[in-house]
Amino acid sequence: MSDQQIRRAVCPGSYDPITLGHVDVLLRAAALYDEVVVAVLHNPSKSGTFGIDERIGFIERALPEAVAARVRIEAFAGRLLVDVCRDVGAEVVVKGLRGGTDYAYELPMALMNRHLTGVETVFLPGAPAFEHVSSSLVKEVARFGGDVSGLVPDEVRDALAALRSPS
Ligand code: PNS
Repeated sequence: MSDQQIRRAVCPGSYDPITLGHVDVLLRAAALYDEVVVAVLHNPSKSGTFGIDERIGFIERALPEAVAARVRIEAFAGRLLVDVCRDVGAEVVVKGLRGGTDYAYELPMALMNRHLTGVETVFLPGAPAFEHVSSSLVKEVARFGGDVSGLVPDEVRDALAALRSPS
C-alpha cells in the first residue's frame, strides 16, 4: 500500500492518564483506519499529573499487541491539532463522545479545526460502560481513596494509588 492510500487518523488528548474509555475509542479507531496516531498534546508550561513519558508508557502497555503495530504514540507540545494532523499525514481526527456535555465542548473545536485546514472530525459514541469515566474524575476518586478498578488499566490504578501514598 502506498503512503497516499493509507488512511490515517489522529486520536488527540491529554491522556493524563489514559482510561479504559480512551482504550475503547483507540481500538475502534484502529478498526476503522489503517493507522492511528495517538497524539498526546500537552502544554509545556503545565506539569500535569503524570509526565509525558509515563503517559505514553501507560498507553503503549494498554493496547493489545495486534493493534499496537498500527498505532503510533507521539507527544506534541504547544501545537495546534491541525498542524499535528498535517505533519503526520492524517485526514481525520477521531474522538469519543460521552454525551451532550462532550458534544458541546467538542463541536466548536471540530468546526474550528475544519475551518483552519479542512480536517474532519469523526465522533464515536462512547461505550455506555465508560460514560462516567474521565481522567479528571478518575484522578479525583483515586486521590481520596476510591476504587478505580475497571475504569483505567490496572497499572494506572496502581500508579494513582502510589501518588496518594508514596512508598
Ligand atoms: O484530553 P483533552 O484534554 O480533552 O484533550 C483536548 C485536546 C488536547 C485534544 C485539545 O485541547 C486540543 O486539540 N489541543 C491542541 C491545541 C489546539 O489545536 N487548540 C485549538 C482547538 S480548536
